[in-house]
Amino acid sequence: MSDRAPISVLWPDPSPGPVDDDTLIARYGRADRPHLRMNFVTSVDGAVSLDGYSAGLSGASDKRVFGLLRMLCDALLVAAGTLRHEGYRAIRLDERRRAWRRAHGLTEYPTLVVVSGTLDLDPAQAAFADAPVRPVVLTHRNAAAPPGLTDVADLVRHGDDRVDLVTGLAELRRRGLGQLLCEGGPHLFGALTAADLVDEVCLSIAPLLAGAGPGRITAGAPSPARGLPLRHVLRADDGTLLLRHARH
Ligand SMILES: NC(=O)c1ccc[n+]([C@@H]2O[C@H](COP(=O)([O-])OP(=O)(O)OC[C@H]3O[C@@H](n4cnc5c(N)ncnc54)[C@H](OP(=O)(O)O)[C@@H]3O)[C@@H](O)[C@H]2O)c1
Repeated sequence: MSDRAPISVLWPDPSPGPVDDDTLIARYGRADRPHLRMNFVTSVDGAVSLDGYSAGLSGASDKRVFGLLRMLCDALLVAAGTLRHEGYRAIRLDERRRAWRRAHGLTEYPTLVVVSGTLDLDPAQAAFADAPVRPVVLTHRNAAAPPGLTDVADLVRHGDDRVDLVTGLAELRRRGLGQLLCEGGPHLFGALTAADLVDEVCLSIAPLLAGAGPGRITAGAPSPARGLPLRHVLRADDGTLLLRHARH
């Protein structure tokens, strides 16, 4: 994959040419404290999707980093909307990445955590049915589970009639899931931002104009703007820019 998606460091410490996975792993890393990292791809004009899906925005270099970030996390957080719409499959990592995780004292696979208020989830969806690690569904106390969901996932309830993300994420951390990677979607991103839970945003900017129509990578109720310092800029041969912004 790395040969087909060469990536160079532009800032800081520009690399003379494409870098290997070890360099990328060092650049992204795992935090030394509980941490929530968001990962999104967008067009130059800020679209969240192309023809309704993120796939049209995601080139080989974005996919390379996407896979590395999955390797680095304890749990992969995704909103039910994105899980349903994008037809999430079970998390798979190749043997090289599983070996990296074992060597670093991690479980072979990260845990999938789905955030849902309605529990309108299909237990037969491959993300649940074929999961290598039993997924968690983060929901609230009034949500009624559809038949079969508790056969394939643990339900964790926080909040009375809406999901309390602050206590929900604290519970995930108590369960040993301290390094969280969130792959969206926009409504979950908006809610996490409003709750001031976002520590980092990894943003791939695809070299294309999507035009008017698609929404932004964040959605929902407005919240105050917050600073998020730039930590690195990578450039891929396919023209994608890969930015990392983080609090620390
Ligand atoms: N460009 C990218 O990197 C990227 C990444 C991800 C997604 N996307 C795109 O985003 C679109 C999907 O967006 P979306 O509008 O459906 O937003 P979303 O945030 O993916 O999903 C919204 C749904 O997720 C659950 N949810 C989200 N936040 C919640 C919260 N705080 N509490 C409880 N439940 C919460 C709810 O599910 P329930 O209905 O089950 O309650 C809600 O209806 C798709 O087009 C997808 O391709 C793009």
